[in-house]
Amino acid sequence: MPGSAVLQLAPLEALYDYGHGGEDFGTAVREGLSLGQKKLSAKFLYDARGSALFEEICTLPEYYPTRTEISLLEKHVTEIAELAGRGASVVEFGSGASVKVRLLLDTLAAPDWYVPVDISRQHLVASAKDLATQYPDLTVLPICADYTRAFDLPRSVRAPILGFFPGSTIGNFTHGEARAFLQQAASSLGAGAGLVLGADLMKAPDILRAAYNDAAGVTAAFNLNLLARINRELDGDFELSAFRHEGRLLEDEGRIEMHLVSQRAQVVRAAGKTFAFREGESIHTEYSHKYTIDQVQTLARSGGWEPVRSWVDDQSLFSIHFLAAR
Ligand code: AVI
Repeated sequence: MPGSAVLQLAPLEALYDYGHGGEDFGTAVREGLSLGQKKLSAKFLYDARGSALFEEICTLPEYYPTRTEISLLEKHVTEIAELAGRGASVVEFGSGASVKVRLLLDTLAAPDWYVPVDISRQHLVASAKDLATQYPDLTVLPICADYTRAFDLPRSVRAPILGFFPGSTIGNFTHGEARAFLQQAASSLGAGAGLVLGADLMKAPDILRAAYNDAAGVTAAFNLNLLARINRELDGDFELSAFRHEGRLLEDEGRIEMHLVSQRAQVVRAAGKTFAFREGESIHTEYSHKYTIDQVQTLARSGGWEPVRSWVDDQSLFSIHFLAAR
């Protein structure tokens, strides 16, 4: 695999490290807070504290995506396994704690390889080792990489190959980024591969607003942690109580946007620069696109995948798609 370092790390087959490292946080803050609409990429929400808060969000009563996707996977996993075929090698994009993939691995007929791909090396190795211990018949080969960038699968990973991208993380990309990710995934996995994709659906505004503005304030803490992270890592002096979280629904654009809204006119120092805020001015911190089934299928086709089957829950909250690489 050109461009990657290979390490032996029992009980793993190996660890491939692309050394992608990720975009520099300081540069992103200096540039993003200098824009007309201040903006920071959602990927910076996930430091250790942010990842723990996101896991808490997934258990909230208002946050329907996680439990709905898990019950959809439980209900249709046998069909998914049939479409994937015997001896599949599963490649998970942004594997995190590798929780949902266990549903697949428990049902697939004789799964051969599990290849989790994630940028967070420490987390990746720990969860890959757990999984390798719990599934001794599986060859586990983590790839430390930014999965939106080009990476090759080791030649020893055998077909049939099944990609797995759950959670509607695709919705956190712009439409252009989502198409580029799908094209990249199709080229990494190769012709004939399958992809199980989770995608959140457009629905009644009240349900969406509640999911991104929960009563317990966990989503607010998740969003505000970005300012705390800037204070911790980039010598910032953000006063957290001077900003308010807002999960904004833009129905025409088909998405929720998270913003941090300045509660007064103020000047903040961070990453060696000063930034002026007007009262009511916001930092945009996340897109979360919501789709119709047709929109997901059109997006999939534009990214080099043919929709094979789609599943939706009874309340049309969430969808799972089996796509085939053209
Ligand atoms: C990870 N991602 C799919 C979540 C979402 O719903 O867009 C992140 C999140 N943001 C606020 N709540 C959850």
